[in-house]
Amino acid sequence: MNKTIAFFDSGIGGIPYLIHLKNIKPDLNYVYLADNANFPYGIKNGEVIKEIVLSAIDRLIKKITPDVIVIACNTATVVTLPYLREKFTIPFVGVVPAVKPAASMSENKRIGLFATNKTVSDSYTDNLIAQFAGNCEVHKYADPNIVSFIENKMFESENKEILEFLIPAANFFIEKDVDHVVLGCTHFLFIHDMLENLFPEKIKTIDSREGVSRQVLRIISDMDVAPHASQGWRSAWGKDMAVASQSVKRDRDCFYVTSSNINNDYYKKIADRFMLKYSGII
Ligand code: DGL
Repeated sequence: MNKTIAFFDSGIGGIPYLIHLKNIKPDLNYVYLADNANFPYGIKNGEVIKEIVLSAIDRLIKKITPDVIVIACNTATVVTLPYLREKFTIPFVGVVPAVKPAASMSENKRIGLFATNKTVSDSYTDNLIAQFAGNCEVHKYADPNIVSFIENKMFESENKEILEFLIPAANFFIEKDVDHVVLGCTHFLFIHDMLENLFPEKIKTIDSREGVSRQVLRIISDMDVAPHASQGWRSAWGKDMAVASQSVKRDRDCFYVTSSNINNDYYKKIADRFMLKYSGII
């Protein structure tokens, strides 16, 4: 039986993580849950985030019984991962900002962290930086308008609309003279190309897709499913998307929301665009 991997985010941000793994391992079943009823997480306090995430995951497990759940949301991961692992027996893979690889790749030891308000201010992130980037200056930037734009409008708007918010973000990192910017909010993977276009050549963006996919494969391989010996781990975002758009939409790859009253048509289009079957509410 093919394993089922569920991806969870406050909204659509986790989709690039699902696509990355699906391109490496297409024979798994994929389920996506966007907690749109509670979007955005990044400006909520920790206790609220914990409560809504635990409740959504409880419903997800009851409905789908996935084999692995990827918390494809940095904010939810930094706040809730230990609680999820304590409460449920299913293996979880969290998505945390790629501070460690950024710190090791940085030449000038100045890195940027572009994430939600909650992620940039959480003590989990401070510990991550202290542990893995103690030798770097880390410059943090958050803007909830960018996250909301991506969630609600990005796929029905002109790119230039988001530039109003992206240019100040890009300028912040340019002025701080960083050479790597960690995309510490999954939503930002959708604007990765636009951001790199605003940066000079020397500034690179970095995210956690590679490590997360590898971790899922490790877990399912321990469950006795031989993983593909995959070449090309480092598939670029553009390549990921090209493959996604050619892949066949399969009934077993489902996209769920937690509210069908919010942006229903928009979410249906998003599911379609990323070859997932819109399957209603969990
Ligand atoms: N995509 C989420 C993250 O990675 C958070 C977006 C939000 O709900 O604020 O942090």
